[in-house]
Amino acid sequence: MSGHICVVGSLNIDIAARVERMPAPGETIGGFDMKIHPGGKGGNQAVAAARMGGSVSIIGAVGNDDFGRMRKGWLESEGVDTSLVRVDGSAPTGTALITVDGSGQNSIIVIPGANGAIRPEHIEAARHRIASSALLICQLEIPVDAVSAAIRIAAENGTPVLLNPAPACPLERDLLSSVDFLVPNEIEAAQMSGIEVTDVDSAVAAAEKFHDMGTRNVVITMGSRGAMISHAGRVRHWNAHNVKVVDTTAAGDSFIGAFAASLMEGRSLEEAVEVAIFASAITVTRHGAQSSLPIRSEVEEAMVEWR
Ligand code: RIB
Repeated sequence: MSGHICVVGSLNIDIAARVERMPAPGETIGGFDMKIHPGGKGGNQAVAAARMGGSVSIIGAVGNDDFGRMRKGWLESEGVDTSLVRVDGSAPTGTALITVDGSGQNSIIVIPGANGAIRPEHIEAARHRIASSALLICQLEIPVDAVSAAIRIAAENGTPVLLNPAPACPLERDLLSSVDFLVPNEIEAAQMSGIEVTDVDSAVAAAEKFHDMGTRNVVITMGSRGAMISHAGRVRHWNAHNVKVVDTTAAGDSFIGAFAASLMEGRSLEEAVEVAIFASAITVTRHGAQSSLPIRSEVEEAMVEWR
């Protein structure tokens, strides 16, 4: 595989604050370090792949507002092609309210805005880009019928599909059988398979369910438990790197961008997972979403120094 990566997905502005601990229902607590970051799983994954050296474009939508102009500008400054990002005059740019606690764990509320107004016909209008790309990456922060349209176009044109099913929702077997690389985290894998993923054995059981539904390669990211891959009757697990976690936001996005860019360079699936684990380990040592994603030289240094 080599070539262009097309991301179809969400573009948000993240409003993030830090707290010592998450508030209980009905409780008011103090926070600190409020920041406005570029975010959205689609935008983050596009930038993560571009920072690893990938050629990337994104199909998505922002509102006709300052947040939308900021989000597009932040993508362009990273070399991501935004010519197929629609400016929607009827909805605001998507936003995410993010709280990060003292252990680096986050909770996220996403208000979809323009992301939620993406229709299959908007994707259809960008068919040429999906058809001519070497890899399509989708998540589930835009309507499922729009994601399905993108995956159908990819299948019709022989473009391999990577689906990050986040946030998880029930998906038709037809759609999953057109997915070449399914990359959920342990929570999404559990929600979609009905198997609680707590260790490698349960991750393998969940992956089997996805294979039964027609997905060829399954990569499950498991936070501090590392990551596993199941493909062609083979399973492999890697431990997580031992780093000081300050913010887990965009760890999965970083993994996916690095994984995709590595596949495009011709690395094997297992090599691509290894690179992705290093990239996401760096991401969790920093605050923010897009702003925490490593560049290629940082990942290469970690791959030498941490071994
Ligand atoms: O994966 C992290 C992202 O999820 C954040 O940037 C936020 O915008 C939500 O989409």
